[in-house]
Amino acid sequence: MWHTLTIQLRHETADDIAAIEAVTTAAFADAPHTSHTEQFIVRALRVARELTLSIVAEERGQIIGYVALSPVTISDAQGRKAEGWYGLRPISVMPPRQGQGIGSRLMEQALTELRAMRAAGCVLLGDPAYYARFGFQAHAGL
Ligand SMILES: CC(C)(COP(=O)(O)OP(=O)(O)OC[C@H]1O[C@@H](n2cnc3c(N)ncnc32)[C@H](O)[C@@H]1OP(=O)(O)O)[C@@H](O)C(=O)NCCC(=O)NCCS
Repeated sequence: MWHTLTIQLRHETADDIAAIEAVTTAAFADAPHTSHTEQFIVRALRVARELTLSIVAEERGQIIGYVALSPVTISDAQGRKAEGWYGLRPISVMPPRQGQGIGSRLMEQALTELRAMRAAGCVLLGDPAYYARFGFQAHAGL
């Protein structure tokens, strides 16, 4: 029996970088929709200084979950750009710990911090039936 109370969510530090890549690689190893490049995306965002939020789930010194948020550009059919939007990806939980609420906690934390930043909105790619619980709506035009 696992107790999620022992899990702490916090921002990344320089010491977490290798563990973040490991959890991301492991989470997507058998995922259905993946190019297996998610760990490189995180690295590229960090280098580009576009990792707006980088949140780890830590349990007894081990990183078991991770979520990243970065700025995205959204424009309408007329090419008008919307300011202040973010993309949430990747979100990863170590395979043996999936389905225990850790991903939901990471998601809630990320969205709480985005709201505190007065972000205009957040987009992600995923199953609408799952992400609706966090307030996301499917948008065919995006
Ligand atoms: C997606 C992920 C981060 C969710 O984390 P988690 O800790 O397993 O999720 P939780 O335990 O908080 O939530 C479990 C619930 O979400 C559902 N769920 C989890 N991942 C899902 C997915 N990718 N699609 C649809 N439903 C999903 C579970 O069936 C469960 O539903 P229930 O509460 O109705 O029983 C994790 O499963 C993961 O790392 N997956 C591989 C990487 C990936 O696909 N990331 C998403 C794309 S960026």
